Amino acid sequence: MLWLVVVVGLWSHAGALDNGLAKIPTMGWLHWERFMCNINCDTDPENCISERLFMQMADVMVDEGWRDAGYRYVCIDDCWMYSSRDARGRLQADPGRFPGGIKKLADYVHSRGLKLGIYADVGKTTCAGYPGSLGHYDMDAQTFAEWEVDLLKFDGCSMDWTLLGEGYVNMSKALNRTGRQILYSCEWPLYEWRFQKPNYTAIGETCNQWRNLPDVYDSWSSIKSILDWTATHQDVVVPSAGPGGWNDPDMLVIGNFGLSPDQEESQMALWAIMAAPLLMSNDLRAISPRSKQLLQNRHIIGISQDPLGKQGYRTTKVDRFEVWERPLSNSKLAIAVLNRQEIGGPRTFSLQETPGWKMCKPHCQVTQILPKYEEMGLKTGHQVCVNPSGTAVVIITPSSQAKFRINEMHLLEKVEVL
Ligand code: GLA
Repeated sequence: MLWLVVVVGLWSHAGALDNGLAKIPTMGWLHWERFMCNINCDTDPENCISERLFMQMADVMVDEGWRDAGYRYVCIDDCWMYSSRDARGRLQADPGRFPGGIKKLADYVHSRGLKLGIYADVGKTTCAGYPGSLGHYDMDAQTFAEWEVDLLKFDGCSMDWTLLGEGYVNMSKALNRTGRQILYSCEWPLYEWRFQKPNYTAIGETCNQWRNLPDVYDSWSSIKSILDWTATHQDVVVPSAGPGGWNDPDMLVIGNFGLSPDQEESQMALWAIMAAPLLMSNDLRAISPRSKQLLQNRHIIGISQDPLGKQGYRTTKVDRFEVWERPLSNSKLAIAVLNRQEIGGPRTFSLQETPGWKMCKPHCQVTQILPKYEEMGLKTGHQVCVNPSGTAVVIITPSSQAKFRINEMHLLEKVEVL
């Protein structure tokens, strides 16, 4: 038997940064959205940016099942530094808030089976005004390697935009020269979009993940604007994602103040469909059981971490529903149905209306992931019921021999069996 492949054009993930990291989207915790630049340790010791915050978060990540669910990186954002470099010109942590220094914190985080992320900036200063790395890329990369840091978030403030590419590439090389595997998280496209369309081939060869969009806020309107931007730019950004390099729509804000339970499910579902890094920014020391359960939902995490490494995309907009689909390994397909109608009650949507259902001839194995996990068996059709601003998720597996592929235009192409 011969397989004849009828494919218009297969996605290939050309030229990802080859440092062996981020083969699947990064999972962890990052301080920015929830804790921002709170440096008031005298008045707010529980929540200020200090070694204590990261040690406590690392402890909770181990004790409360976060590490075992896959969240491995504990990441420091802006405001960890002292206001100036040391006598030898090296970055230094604020001695009052990080008395043990970053190396000791890294040792602690590693002893808990986790990894440590740190933050710096490609330009003259960080966005909060601390020393930037411009002119010091090798020295800073070396410092981070000596501290045994595992991830660098490299921001793009205070930089001539025409030099952004050069700066990000040079830091990538500097990290590589240290010989330590340091996951490289960039904001290059975000700062370049203001002036021109970024070169995603170069970005993919340079970074393990990259922010395209302004900062996420703790609100449904922020999540919606990220989804809308991603859908309208999907032809540009989706092909650049794959093992080794991912589009980063910014932190998960689940467990904070701004999203309803349905909206939290929507963020989790769509971030998994978008193959986004899952970097939570919340207070894991005090999170509701419901948000925790969602963030640790192994079925959604399974979609996020699928080894095929293809980013999903919006395939249909109909009747105030949006359908997003992500091809998974073993010929499976994840389908998310987002109800964008923010008035009224739950509405039903028939999966036969999705492009992906075309592969269900004569039927598909249907596993519902959200609103609740349920194995539905072989079905010739299936309806989901979706709350306003909520998202239903199913995984479908074709029952027949016919195989399908996804072409560049995001369409399902049949692979004939001769
Ligand atoms: C920028 C980044 C944020 C955060 C802040 C820190 O706004 O996009 O993610 O790192 O800087 O100052």
